[in-house]
Amino acid sequence: MNKRYRTLRKTEIIREMIAETTISPAQLILPLFVSEGTEKTEISSMPGIFRYGLENVYGEIENLLTLNLNTVLLFTKVEDSKKDNLCSEALNENGLMARAIFNIKKRFPEITVMTDIALDPFSPDGHDGLVKDGEILNDKTVEILAKMSVLHASKGADFVAPSDMMDGRISAIRVALEKNRFTKTGIMSYSAKYASCFYEPFRSALDSAPGFGDKKTYQMDYRNRVEAIKETLLDIEEGADIVMVKPAGYYLDIIREVKNAVNVPVAAYQVSGEYSMIKASAKMGWVNEELAILESLTSIKRAGADIIATYFAKDFSRIINKNI
Ligand code: PBG
Repeated sequence: MNKRYRTLRKTEIIREMIAETTISPAQLILPLFVSEGTEKTEISSMPGIFRYGLENVYGEIENLLTLNLNTVLLFTKVEDSKKDNLCSEALNENGLMARAIFNIKKRFPEITVMTDIALDPFSPDGHDGLVKDGEILNDKTVEILAKMSVLHASKGADFVAPSDMMDGRISAIRVALEKNRFTKTGIMSYSAKYASCFYEPFRSALDSAPGFGDKKTYQMDYRNRVEAIKETLLDIEEGADIVMVKPAGYYLDIIREVKNAVNVPVAAYQVSGEYSMIKASAKMGWVNEELAILESLTSIKRAGADIIATYFAKDFSRIINKNI
């Protein structure tokens, strides 16, 4: 033998020295669920993840800062009485999202605030767009998404994050932001978002499960790979600053192909189902939770994600701080 590759795996120190993939908390985004009021409610389908009443969210953000987590992706749970077919609450200047952005940025200007742009939390149908006769309308939805983005920007959002998968929304949002002189607000586009069963726990968090049908006429078919590149390149052309692949763990091939095809930062979203499966399995004693967190996130990073949105952000930060 003239090569003995085990030499490079001999000790922990050597393995650390040659490790190709590292993750820093600075590269993680924590999705944060906000509701009205003061209550902190655990989401039953996502153990360890809470919905924070707006009055209570500030303490949680202080916790995040101590863990070196500086970026949140805001989702709001809209009260049923405020949902209507026109999704009018999405454009309410004093709505929960508007107040959440404004108050968080006022208290924590250093935090990067990203906001979800889609209509599902505001719609009685739970779809990401306006619904007419059982159909999801594209262009009318895009008009609202653009206005919604301007509203979020005006309240201080650093990035708007359209998660709806309508055609043409990125350019409409970009044009609207420019027109209103919000030249410092970025767009993180969910560019390759698949219709996935792994969003299920999230929908109970926001009470936003689709009332009829599924999301397959706008979210992508998981049998497709080339389509992900097509969607992503178009979003960049339309003005996206960051692109995203979602879900993450079962889509590592897509993350890598997107990473190789683009020259903007690539994000991946380790979604609610990916989180809850690890949680459930750990609870049963079938996998070691800490090891599963590290391995799943590292694999997503190794596949090519520059940024990861994950419900494990706090756990990750705690784990690596303990190991230092
Ligand atoms: C909806 C939205 C979803 C998620 C983020 N934004 C659900 C869906 O598309 O049905 C999923 C996040 C997760 O599962 O963690 N616009």
